[in-house]
Amino acid sequence: MFSRKVITENDLVDLRGKVALVTGGNTGIGYATIEFLARKGAKVYMASRNKHKAQKAIVEIEAELRKIGEEESNKGSVHWLKLDLSDPRSVKEIGTGFLAKEERLDILVNNASHPAYGPFKLNKDGLLDIMVVNHISHFVLTETLLPLLKRTASLKDSDVRIVNVSSAAHAGVKPDSFIGKESLNIQYGESVTGYINTYGNTKLANLLHIKNLQNRLSAENAGITCLALHPGTVMTEGSGDLLDSIPFIGWFLKTCFGPLVFVSWKQGAMTSAFAAAGNAVAAERKRYEGVYLVPMAKIVEPSSYAKDERLQRELYETTVEVLEDIGVVF
Ligand SMILES: NC(=O)c1ccc[n+]([C@@H]2O[C@H](COP(=O)([O-])OP(=O)(O)OC[C@H]3O[C@@H](n4cnc5c(N)ncnc54)[C@H](OP(=O)(O)O)[C@@H]3O)[C@@H](O)[C@H]2O)c1
Repeated sequence: MFSRKVITENDLVDLRGKVALVTGGNTGIGYATIEFLARKGAKVYMASRNKHKAQKAIVEIEAELRKIGEEESNKGSVHWLKLDLSDPRSVKEIGTGFLAKEERLDILVNNASHPAYGPFKLNKDGLLDIMVVNHISHFVLTETLLPLLKRTASLKDSDVRIVNVSSAAHAGVKPDSFIGKESLNIQYGESVTGYINTYGNTKLANLLHIKNLQNRLSAENAGITCLALHPGTVMTEGSGDLLDSIPFIGWFLKTCFGPLVFVSWKQGAMTSAFAAAGNAVAAERKRYEGVYLVPMAKIVEPSSYAKDERLQRELYETTVEVLEDIGVVF
């Protein structure tokens, strides 16, 4: 399924003068994605919840940027934007604040993820915590930032992209429908497989969201490319913790098989960086509209459920409804 083709930083476009926002990003795939984008000259917002972790990560990325030896005016930069995806109301507020803060937004990477292992809980709004972080709040962020993304897309020589970091785990679930709040709260049991499928349902939502968004934006000729991807099997805090949560054999799997199976943050981020800034996407934008990429930057078909336009529409309508119920209106 994966391609042996190697993508490097040389396959990314020049991002000087461009603005990007990546959710999460203080660690793992998001961190390496931010570094790639900043190395190409972008001003990148690390939208994460923990100030200490963000500042530490930014210092480390800045140290890497200094090694490039570019002139100051050509260098990218990284800035912390406080964003906690566990409450869609605060996400709307932060997104609205961002509209007043920046005059353009060229790249939005919805990368952050709730840990994939449970037990998962209903929050104070009666919504499943992992679905809120992985889908509902990213939906809110995207919808709130759309006016700025559209305005940027109308500028000369623009190449605006919205990227949802999904997962191959989306293919493990086969929901009948996404009608009603309960369809967002479905849990697949209290076992490692059950947790992965509950996580997979949120990653299916990432795919359904990006496809529905691309259809809506294409219908109005917005000039924005929406892509989703699976980054590969990457050894990060999140995947390491998931292995640790497997009773008896987790530690063994992580220590003995981890190094054979898992790739580094940088390798894992290459497909995200390509979706956000790949020069092949810039050259053939129509071809990449609404696609699903796997390493390295290969277009493949997601599950038939991800391509189902009925599910795409139902998820959109249900997400809007549950948000209206908690006072988040667009
Ligand atoms: N690693 C893999 O093998 C793999 C495979 C398939 C798909 N993916 C996808 O790739 C993306 C990145 O994965 P990763 O492995 O790099 O993840 P990770 O190491 O677990 O990092 C997750 C990031 O999300 C942030 N986050 C979690 N909850 C948040 C919240 N409520 N508000 C704001 N930020 C929050 C974390 O911040 P804190 O540090 O503050 O917790 C962290 O920055 C995810 O979408 C994941 O589903 C990963």
